Amino acid sequence: MHRMEEIYYCEPVFRPPSEAYSLLIQVTEGCTYKCDFCVSNLRKKFLIRELDDIKKDLEIAKRIYGNKVQRIFFLDGNAMIAPTGKLLELMEYSMKIFPNLERCGVYAHAKDILKKSDIQLKELSEAGLKIAYVGFESGYDKLLEDIHKKATKDDYIKASNKLMTANITLSATFINGLGGANKSDISEKHALESADLVNNICPEDDRIWYIAFLTLMVPSGTEIFKRLAKREFYQMDSLEILQELKLFITNIEFQNKKANCVFRSNHASNYLPIKGILDRDKQKIIDVLNYGITHTNILKPEFYRGL
Ligand SMILES: C[S@@+](CC[C@H](N)C(=O)[O-])C[C@H]1O[C@@H](n2cnc3c(N)ncnc32)[C@H](O)[C@@H]1O
Ligand code: SF4
Repeated sequence: MHRMEEIYYCEPVFRPPSEAYSLLIQVTEGCTYKCDFCVSNLRKKFLIRELDDIKKDLEIAKRIYGNKVQRIFFLDGNAMIAPTGKLLELMEYSMKIFPNLERCGVYAHAKDILKKSDIQLKELSEAGLKIAYVGFESGYDKLLEDIHKKATKDDYIKASNKLMTANITLSATFINGLGGANKSDISEKHALESADLVNNICPEDDRIWYIAFLTLMVPSGTEIFKRLAKREFYQMDSLEILQELKLFITNIEFQNKKANCVFRSNHASNYLPIKGILDRDKQKIIDVLNYGITHTNILKPEFYRGL
């Protein structure tokens, strides 16, 4: 019997919800960082795959999907760290074999972006890299340090500006509840500093950019899981989560009233699905949050939450 050709994946793989219909191509494996909440590098030794092996996967995908491929997402946790030349060659090859390819995307740690020059980012953008998913997690430096994010609020401002200058769409994620319960001062600073960060990176034009809030999950094996087991960390309950998010939204204030910032908090980890444009829909979002705070029966039950 003829065996179907298979594209190589180093499981488990993670991709943003908005890349659900994209062709996933493994460029790197694992991640060069080790954030306390993340499973991305737990069972994987970091490596950058050989160009020829990645091209073979693109060719297999061509035989399977033909010209249907419109979007490619380059795995894994921080594929942006791959050398610019390799990413350029991959995108040029992808564009050549998939005539309907509209965009390529990657996960990027802020430091991976800062390591690339403005010229390199522009080259990547022109070759097809149109979106970068960056895990901000918080704008509060003390919390970023505590979770070993290896990035600061200032890094996020610089990295966002570099992406926007290169015309690469920014999609940034924050984590609701990251500081844990019983620490209201941390939660408050997490919300306020995160709002200040988002206010600071707002572009002056009406381009689309994305801000999403996930809610902290505690996967086994992570550092945060170990802290939870030792009772050094306590998870926030759903009400505290919504209050924290409300404080963030309340403090969003863009100078640019034409800003087109798509806000989402509708990931599998979230208790209450929310979507809107910031800061245009600020009051509507606050109304939804207030409804959730006073009608807790509509919130997603704990066992339905996931990553
Ligand atoms: C696979 S990571 C890739 C992001 C990229 N490596 C970076 O750090 O900038 C995607 C995002 O999922 C979110 N995430 C990962 N683990 C999570 C957890 N345990 N709970 C909630 N969100 C999580 C974080 O926002 C993280 O940045
Ligand atoms: S959040 Fe991003 S940088 Fe941190 S370990 Fe996970 S994939 Fe790596």
